[in-house]
Amino acid sequence: MTTLEQRLDRQHPIPSGFTRENQAAEILAGMDLKGKQVLITGGYSGIGYEMSRAFSSAGANVIIPARRPSLAVQNTKDLPGIRIVPGDLADLRTVLTLVEKLSAERTVLDIVIGSAGIMAAPESRIGDGWESHFAINHLGHFALIGGLTSLLNESGSRVVMLSSAGHFASGIRWPDIHFTTEPYDPWLAYGQSKTANALFAAELAERGKDKGVLAYSVHPGNIMTPLQRHLSIEDQIALGWVNQDGAPNPALQLKTPAQGAATAVWAATSERLADFSGVYAQDNDVARLSTDDNMVIGGVKSWAIDPEDSARLWDYSVDITGVRPWSEIN
Ligand SMILES: NC(=O)c1ccc[n+]([C@@H]2O[C@H](COP(=O)([O-])OP(=O)(O)OC[C@H]3O[C@@H](n4cnc5c(N)ncnc54)[C@H](OP(=O)(O)O)[C@@H]3O)[C@@H](O)[C@H]2O)c1
Repeated sequence: MTTLEQRLDRQHPIPSGFTRENQAAEILAGMDLKGKQVLITGGYSGIGYEMSRAFSSAGANVIIPARRPSLAVQNTKDLPGIRIVPGDLADLRTVLTLVEKLSAERTVLDIVIGSAGIMAAPESRIGDGWESHFAINHLGHFALIGGLTSLLNESGSRVVMLSSAGHFASGIRWPDIHFTTEPYDPWLAYGQSKTANALFAAELAERGKDKGVLAYSVHPGNIMTPLQRHLSIEDQIALGWVNQDGAPNPALQLKTPAQGAATAVWAATSERLADFSGVYAQDNDVARLSTDDNMVIGGVKSWAIDPEDSARLWDYSVDITGVRPWSEIN
C-alpha cells in the first residue's frame, strides 16, 4: 500500500502547461476521441454539462445517467453522441439497474467522471437513514462506479471524481458519519462527502494499479451553477460570495462553467498525468498540499488522500452498498 508520505510527495504541480484560465475545449484541442465511451454523472448541468459538450465536440460518445432524464434530454439536445440513461444516485436500486444494463451491453468505458452532487442541502436521509450528501455524492457514486469496474478498459481507463475545496470543512467523521449523535451541519456534511470523493479516487487508483485503471480527484474552482440552489441570496451575502446587489465577490476568483469543467477533462485525458494516478488536481494541474484554510488558494488536505482512511472508507462503502468492485475477477 502507498504510504501517506508517498501520496503527499506526489502532490505538486507537474507542471501541465495549462493555467486556471483554460477551458475544457482547449484541454481537448487536437484530440480525436471518436469511438471513446465517456460516462459523466451530472453531465447535463453546470460544469458536468460543459464536460459533456467538450467530449462530444471531440467526437466521443457520452453516456449521462440522469435523475431527471427528460430535463437531461432537453439540456443536451444540441450535442451529438449523447445518450441519457435513468440513474438516481439517491436510489441504489436505480443505480444497480443501470449497472446491470450497461454490464449486459458490455459497454467498455474509457472515461468515467463523477460530477453529480448536492451542496449545503437541508438535513434529509435516504436509503437506510444515510445522510444525503454522503449518500448521493459518495455512496451513489461508489455503487455506480464500483459496479461498473468490470467495464473499465484495462489499458488505461480513467475515473475522475469531482471533489471540492469544500473538503477543507471535514474529514470522514468516523464516529458519526450520518449525523445521528451530533447536530446536522450542511457544510460539514458537504465537506465530508467531498473528502469521501477524493478518498474514493485515491483508493480506486491503489486497487486499480494492477488492472490498468487510473483514478483522480479534482477541485474544479468556484463556479456559479445550479449547485447553489439550496442557498438563498441572503445566505450567499452572509458567506461573502456575492455583494448586496447580488454581484459575485471578485475575491472568489470565479471561473466560467467551461473553465470549471477543464480540470476534470484534463485529469481524464492528460498523458503527463498517467504516472500520477490517485492525485488530487486543481487549476489544470496537480494540487499542492494545503497548509492553511484558504479555500480560494485551495490545495489538498492530507485527510483527503490518507491511505488508512481511503481503505477504511472503501470497506465501509462495500458493507453499506453491497457493491464489491471488480468482484468478478477478484
Ligand atoms: N460549482 C462549483 O463552484 C463547485 C466547486 C467545487 C466542487 N464542485 C463539484 O462539482 C460537481 C458539479 O457541480 P455543478 O456546479 O456542475 O452543479 P450542478 O449544476 O448542480 O450539477 C449537479 C448535477 O448533479 C445532479 N444530481 C444531483 N442529485 C443527484 C442524484 N440524486 N442523482 C443523480 N444526479 C444528481 C444534478 O441533477 P438535477 O439537476 O436533476 O438535480 C445535476 O445534473 C459537484 O460534485 C460539486 O460538488 C462544484
